[in-house]
Formats: sequence, structure tokens, C-alpha cells
Amino acid sequence: MEIIYVENNNEAGKVAFELFEDEIKKGAKVLGLATGSSPLPLYEQFVQSDIDFSNLISINLDEYVGLNADHHQSYHYFMYHHLFKFKQFKASYVPDGSKEEDEAIAEYEQILDKHPIDIQLLGIGRNGHIGFNEPGTSFNSKTHKVELAQSTIEANKRFFSEEEEVPKYAYTMGLESIMRAKKIVLIACGENKKDAIYGLVKGEVSENLPASILQNHPDVTLIIDEKAGSKL
Ligand code: GLP
Repeated sequence: MEIIYVENNNEAGKVAFELFEDEIKKGAKVLGLATGSSPLPLYEQFVQSDIDFSNLISINLDEYVGLNADHHQSYHYFMYHHLFKFKQFKASYVPDGSKEEDEAIAEYEQILDKHPIDIQLLGIGRNGHIGFNEPGTSFNSKTHKVELAQSTIEANKRFFSEEEEVPKYAYTMGLESIMRAKKIVLIACGENKKDAIYGLVKGEVSENLPASILQNHPDVTLIIDEKAGSKL
């Protein structure tokens, strides 16, 4: 696992951009994308770049259950607002939060089978979740419906007008699916990520800290600031 230290999230975006650009130049066709505040500077770089995305496919990690694509807190809308309205991909996939569980999951598994991910972007939750794979999720998981941890609801309520509006469930790509990506780039900045980063890098590989599974992946790059790395 390679660790690159940066000053702040903005710089993390620039470093991540170089990694993505390199992989695209080398022939990567399928980009695994993420939501949250961590990826935003990377998406700004994408928007400003002259990369031709029209031959690339993007596949997002997760979506809230019950939110339509046009709901402003949906991850569909997030991706549209920050990236897709500026750059059109050949196809862009985000799990469909408006569909019933069986249908939404089957549809996403087919998409993942058809388009193996070349480079996957990840953020990390304070409790070590990746995508919405909360502590306790099986390392063998594929796309599934999850009940969000209370700490995740609290962390994400800043985007909603009231905590009651934060959906309690999400569809997420599973840990096994994330591990199938050829290359993984994870961005984490700030004090509140230090325990999760410690667990990811030095903790026991355990389903109690989902991101620790990345210790078993052959090509992971962490882009973190001093605060997120302060327990290493
Ligand atoms: C959400 C997303 C995760 C993301 C996490 C951290 O829970 N489902 O994919 O990594 O938030 O977000 P942030 O980057 O805003 O700290």
C-alpha cells in the first residue's frame, strides 16, 4: 500500500487527478467513482481538464434508498451537479434508489459484471466504511441494501435540513466488488478520519473495520493529510 501525504483536500484532488489521468492514458476505460466531500477537488480537476470522457464508463459506489435521481441529496444529483453536467461519459451508472431491492441489486450486478473497474476512487467513513459498507458487512458482499449506522446518519445530516430526512438505507457496491477493481485510490483528510485510517493501514483485517480489507489488495494508494495520518 502506498501512502502519499498532502497538505489538504485540494492537493489530494490534484494528486488523485494525476493518478487517474495516467491510468486513462494507459487505457483504463471504467472509472469507479464516489461521493462525499473528499472527491470534490478531483472532480473540479476533471471538469477543468481536456480529458475526453466520451469513451469512458463511470460506475458509482452507492445511493440512498428511496431518493429519486432528481432529489438534491441523492448521489445521482451529486454526480450530475459536480461532474456529469460538465463532462459526458459514454455511460454513467449509479445504483437506482427508486427501485425495489431485488431489481436494483440485480441490475447493478449485471453492470459490474459487464464493466470491470480499472481504477476505483474511495473516500472513507469515520467508522471505516467504504461505499456504504458499514462495520459488520461481509468481506464477500456484492451489491446489497444496508441499514446506515447512526454515526453515518449523523455525519451526513449536514446535507439535509433535518436528521429525520436522512435516509436510513442505501444500496452499495459490496466489498468483494470493490476489491475486484484493478487499482484503488482512497482520499482522506482531517482529524475525524484518523481512527479509520489507522485501522485501514495498521489494524487487524476485520469486518469490524470494512476498509481494512484493502490491506489484501495489491494496488492501493492512500492520499491523506497529516491529520488523517496522525495515528500511523
Ligand atoms: C458517505 C459515502 C462514502 C464516503 C463517506 C465519507 O458515507 N457513502 O462513500 O466515503 O461519506 O464522506 P466525506 O468524503 O464527505 O468525508
